[in-house]
Amino acid sequence: MATKYLDLLFTDSVRRAQTQYYGRAGQIAGAPTRDLLGQAEAEFIVDRDSFYLGSISETGWPYIQHRGGPQGFLRVLNETTLAFADYKGNRQLLTTGNVSVNDRVALFLMDYPNRARLKILGHARVDDARVHPELVAQLADPKTQQPVERLVFVDVVSFDWNCPKYITPRYSAEEVEAYVGSLKKRIAELETALHAAKI
Ligand SMILES: Cc1cc2nc3c(=O)[nH]c(=O)nc-3n(C[C@H](O)[C@H](O)[C@H](O)COP(=O)(O)O)c2cc1C
Repeated sequence: MATKYLDLLFTDSVRRAQTQYYGRAGQIAGAPTRDLLGQAEAEFIVDRDSFYLGSISETGWPYIQHRGGPQGFLRVLNETTLAFADYKGNRQLLTTGNVSVNDRVALFLMDYPNRARLKILGHARVDDARVHPELVAQLADPKTQQPVERLVFVDVVSFDWNCPKYITPRYSAEEVEAYVGSLKKRIAELETALHAAKI
C-alpha cells in the first residue's frame, strides 16, 4: 500500500466518515513527500494503450476523459514525470482548461487481462507543442493524422496498485486474435487432413 497515496486522500472528511462507520480513522505514518515511479510502474505504464484522466473543473466538478493511442503513448520521461501528446481533437479542451486552474489530476490505468490497475496522482502541465519540437517528434503517433497541438506533462506525486479482486479479465480484439490464432491454424490443419481422408 502506498502510504503517500493514502496520506493525500485521507482528508478530514474521509477520516470523519471512517470514524462514523468503523469507530476510528486510519492512521498514516511515515509517508514520503512523494513516490518515485519504479521499474514495475514504468513497465506497466508503457504497456498500456489507454488510460483515464481525471481533472477538476474550475467550478469543482470532477471530469474524466478516456485517452487512447498506440501502446506506450503515455511515456515515462523519468521517475517523476509522465508525458503524452494531445492532438487536435474535439476542440472542447476540457482537460487543458481544467488544469490551467487546478493542476491536480488522477490517472487510472487498467490491465484487464492481467487484472491489474494502477492509480496515479500528480500535477499536470499542458504546453503548446511548438515549445517542444523534439519531444513532439518522440511522442507523436506517426499513424495519427491529426497534428499534435499540446504536450501534457504529469509530475507524479503518488501512486497505488489495486488488488485484482473484482477485475473481470477482458481482452482486446488483437489479444483475442493472438490467443485463438494457433487454434484457428490447428482447425485448418485438421480440416485439410479430414478432407484428404475423405471421411
Ligand atoms: C480526429 C480526432 C482524432 C482523435 N485522436 C485521439 C487519440 O488518438 N487519442 C485520444 O485520446 N483522443 C483522441 N481524440 C479525442 C480528442 O483528442 C479529444 O479532443 C480529447 O480527448 C478531449 O480532451 P478533453 O477532455 O481534454 O477536452 C481525437 C479526436 C478527433 C476529433
